[in-house]
Amino acid sequence: MCGIIGAVHMKGNIASILRQSLKRLEYRGYDSSGIATVSEGTLFIKKDKGKIDDIHHRLNFDTLPGSIGIGHTRWATHGPPSKVNAHPHTDCQKRIAVVHNGIIENYQELREQLQANGHRFESQTDTEVIPHMIEEALSHTPTLKEAVAETITQLEGSYAIVVLGTNGKELVCARKESPLVIGLGTQGVYCASDVPAFLPMTRKTIVLEDHEVVHLTSNSALMSRIDDTGSLAPLPIREPTVVKWTIDMAQKGGYPHFMLKEIHEQPRALSDTLRIRKNDLEAFAEVLHNHKNILTIAAGTSFHATMAAKYMFSHIADRLIHGVIASEGSDTVAESLGKDTAVLAVTQSGETIDTLHAVKHLKNQGATILTITNTVGSSITRMADSVLYTQAGPEIGVAATKTYATQLATLASLSISLGTMTGAQTDKESQELFMALNQFPNLIQAVIRNQESQIKETAQQYITKSNFFFLGRGISTSTAMEGALKIKEIAYVHAEGYPAGESKHGPIALVEPGFPIIFVAPNDNTRRHLESNVMEMKARGAQIISICSATDQRLIDLSHHAIPLPELPSKFFSPISYVIPLQLLAYYAAILRGHDPDQPRNLAKSVTVL
Ligand code: F6R
Repeated sequence: MCGIIGAVHMKGNIASILRQSLKRLEYRGYDSSGIATVSEGTLFIKKDKGKIDDIHHRLNFDTLPGSIGIGHTRWATHGPPSKVNAHPHTDCQKRIAVVHNGIIENYQELREQLQANGHRFESQTDTEVIPHMIEEALSHTPTLKEAVAETITQLEGSYAIVVLGTNGKELVCARKESPLVIGLGTQGVYCASDVPAFLPMTRKTIVLEDHEVVHLTSNSALMSRIDDTGSLAPLPIREPTVVKWTIDMAQKGGYPHFMLKEIHEQPRALSDTLRIRKNDLEAFAEVLHNHKNILTIAAGTSFHATMAAKYMFSHIADRLIHGVIASEGSDTVAESLGKDTAVLAVTQSGETIDTLHAVKHLKNQGATILTITNTVGSSITRMADSVLYTQAGPEIGVAATKTYATQLATLASLSISLGTMTGAQTDKESQELFMALNQFPNLIQAVIRNQESQIKETAQQYITKSNFFFLGRGISTSTAMEGALKIKEIAYVHAEGYPAGESKHGPIALVEPGFPIIFVAPNDNTRRHLESNVMEMKARGAQIISICSATDQRLIDLSHHAIPLPELPSKFFSPISYVIPLQLLAYYAAILRGHDPDQPRNLAKSVTVL
């Protein structure tokens, strides 16, 4: 998982533009980075282990000469983070430089063949085979584009690559199962893993499909499609899409961290998402209605959204859905179960390889694929029969926040629409549910406005604690699990999210005086039983922190700390507002412990490895 960029300008030095583009891609990986440029027939490279700003401070990327170049920010897969393993990688003669996002599965065999032909390798990466293969191909093919084409037909696995040669006039890029977009600007032409990389230069983009190869010069992007034999067929000119994101949307907008900005953006993200067209929603719901089985596939936070959806679909639409964790997908679902099954894949990035693999497996078995994603043109959208987009805008912080809220809102809307089809809701009832859902943007605005400073104080009070339980019942189990995931991943605090009732069957053994337990306790039909769980934990000396209704004086009195929230317009959608304090708690827990919440260690924004 990495971020890549390539740029060809008509004139001027490109290095600082590439460096700033890499900064905007740093959410994709940040253990090492590098830039290569070409000037007067010579390749120049600076790369090292660490984050871009630190490397720049040491090496000054901006002094690299030339108006053409490529850049890379890495999330290690093959070979640990180090200077030699950082991209760009080169051939033996230092005439070709390559940046790559993805994994070359057959690199070991390719490397052995190349070594037998006398090629010398410097790194432990899978990527380094690519420049050496292009070097080989250039001994008998006339152009860089054809040499790249010959090379990629031999690669197994996934890749988005950008190739720079020393003629200094052209780049060649190609993709298979890893994202790549082209940007057409007035000063030059770009390709990158994601649009924010070149957003200050242009909003005109073309999303590449698998097996497409593009030849870029400062004023052209000529596209071809490659077949299995390596032959390139030119593609007709494709009209660019003008993306609506402003550079401001893709940057911090005055907040200290992307994560905090994205938490605060949730009211806007939610109302945009709730503007989903009724027809699109109904078409989607109809597919679900017409299938015997509904299976959800998702990972991490998106999986928690599908957990909540299980309750919504059951209570609102009278439909049981089976939730499967993406990484377990292909092993869980037997081959005979594809037919009559609608698969609902939920993934903000649309690039999570576990989700893609499970979906591919089920598609091959004859399942119909629906997806909810935030990323236009992502790999999942090409696999799916139907797509619903959440409208969160770019989410840069590694921890999912606003994309979670928008997934919940989309799943909630879908369950209402399906409920009308199944007859579980009358038209009037479903209208009332939609009205309730539409109150959530204002509701969460109020939660952020009224509770943020208290949550910060709570985070401070529990700063010395290194273990937490997050407990809930019913739909709130998913909220509890999401709260635990958030604090684990950005504050590095051990936390378990658990069904409160189940906590008696083991986890309670860990509770001793002072052990902090966060109860997610909306005023729904689980509230009465949850109180017994609170009492059980309190009797063992636990510190009780309740996220509960402001009207729930009884629980507020029972708790050591309470974070009171506004009354819910509908109990079915409680995760949308009850997750907000947990996101803020995790954020402040990270800040107070001195960690960068936007780039937690060992994690990356979209996980494109199995
Ligand atoms: C947690 C987080 C991850 C993702 C997971 C799935 O904050 O961001 O757990 O939710 O990697 O990602 P998507 O939704 O892109 O498939």
